[in-house]
Amino acid sequence: MATHQFDGIIVGAGGAGLMAALQASKTAKIAVLSKLYPTRSHTGAAQGGIGAALGNSEEDNWEWHMFDTVKGGDYLVDQDAAEIMCQEAVEAVYELEHMGLPFNRNADGTIAQRPFGGHTRDHGKAPVRRSCYAADRTGHMILQTLYQQCIKQGVTFFNEYHVIDLLTNNGAACGVVAVEIATGEIHTFHSKGVMFATGGSGRMFKITSNALTLTGDGMAVLYRKGLPLEDMEFFQFHPTGIYKMGILITEAARGEGGILRNGSGERFMERYAPTLKDLAPRDMVSRAIHQELRAGKGVNGKDYVHLDLTHLPAKTIHEKLPDITDFVETYMGLDPTKDLIPIQPTAHYAMGGIPTNSNAEVVIDEKNTPMPGLYAAGECACVSVHGANRLGTNSLVDIVVFGRRGGKAMAQFVQKAALQPLPADPEAPARARIDKLFNSTGTEVVARIREELQAEMMDKASVYRIEADLKKMLEIIEHLKKKYESVRLIDHGKKFNMELLEAFELEHLLQLAQVTVTAALARKESRGAHSRDDYPKRDDANFLKHSLAYPEGSGVRLSYKPVSITRFQPQERKY
Ligand code: FUM
Repeated sequence: MATHQFDGIIVGAGGAGLMAALQASKTAKIAVLSKLYPTRSHTGAAQGGIGAALGNSEEDNWEWHMFDTVKGGDYLVDQDAAEIMCQEAVEAVYELEHMGLPFNRNADGTIAQRPFGGHTRDHGKAPVRRSCYAADRTGHMILQTLYQQCIKQGVTFFNEYHVIDLLTNNGAACGVVAVEIATGEIHTFHSKGVMFATGGSGRMFKITSNALTLTGDGMAVLYRKGLPLEDMEFFQFHPTGIYKMGILITEAARGEGGILRNGSGERFMERYAPTLKDLAPRDMVSRAIHQELRAGKGVNGKDYVHLDLTHLPAKTIHEKLPDITDFVETYMGLDPTKDLIPIQPTAHYAMGGIPTNSNAEVVIDEKNTPMPGLYAAGECACVSVHGANRLGTNSLVDIVVFGRRGGKAMAQFVQKAALQPLPADPEAPARARIDKLFNSTGTEVVARIREELQAEMMDKASVYRIEADLKKMLEIIEHLKKKYESVRLIDHGKKFNMELLEAFELEHLLQLAQVTVTAALARKESRGAHSRDDYPKRDDANFLKHSLAYPEGSGVRLSYKPVSITRFQPQERKY
């Protein structure tokens, strides 16, 4: 048994994990565990920018950013947390700049900013330039910058370690158990503080912008321990994924002037959002695309519409959107300066996740009671600053602001807290999980169950939802979970056993899909990214509340807690 001891363990090496590590390692002995090499983390896929009211290109202020965030989230946003995020975004962007992040620049040398969906001047009057960007590689640059800083500061990394269990004692977190992918060995990490920053779970859907690794591991590990997940019914579909592949075409393409057109060439967003048009929030644009498709207005009768960049100067496309130009050429054989790009909504972002307060402490009940020593930040967490629908650019703000706050909070905690003893035989549950998979005599195959889950979730629980489909989906998940019990691994080797890894990931996806669909069935209203055809209106009287899902037997128990409303009372959402 290999046991390692640190003051704090951070699981996940995306932007949130690295930012937390940078802060915490100033005063504490910190290790970062990641199932990937850190710079392959999914933060690297965030393209169009990080929102902050710098006001470099036109007047702006954090209160307008907060208003847009709250309205964009269809008033399910916790406004105390959104206020912190929008205020601290400004400082966080300058901090990244000072670390060396190569932002695009204005002629006067200040950080360049561009418009993005749902970000407006003076409470919705017109689009505002708020997104600070490094071409269409902003997340990639954040990741590289933070990783370099972590290396400089001597943070210890355990790369390609897959965490499959949280250790607790006396009601506090005290470590994790991980499989070293290269050897198959199990390792125990013993610590006073543990942070999860493991990203999202978009791989539960067939068409997704998410990397193969986005299987909700952190959320599922905690849920399996009996901890709740918050607002999991809200899953964002980004309007512009490459048709059939889901690969992200950044919203910055529309920020730079790109236009969505239906099969007749009509700029249909003018009908759905007369003020913001193509730069309306993502939930609205994705729904509008679906409505066009339902009305038979797709291109050539197919289930896609076009993103048109052909009217933009080629120089803008090549200089400000180089990566998506490359994707469109590579995956579709098209030239975005001349050709229309076939797109469809793609599963992009989990608004829900592990409930936390604004110091990234994990809270475990309706009263927001923190669990000592346990933290979560980034997409796996739910602060909740995104409510029912996240605005573009706010995920990068979230990771740097709450990663930083969580890192600081953990550093303070480990100064004072006592190290809890490890539970007896800490690796036993992880070993039992692995032995069960290796000893199975069943006939089911991981990849087939996963494929069925993804196709059915896409069909029954994506942009539009309806009771009959959600009920059917729960039955399907039940059935797939039974099949999972008979999964048999073909590879019984220990070294780089990716089949074993995928089996863990599938179990996580099945659990999270069950939570998502159960919470979606119970929310009999339409709010943000959760659109019920059978309950088309938002219902504040009954549903202006966060859901909390707890595991109960083989099912899910739901409970609710209030939304923090400070500055902005819920209004009708028009753009
Ligand atoms: O469209 C994009 O560039 C995605 C950004 C985001 O999800 O914030």
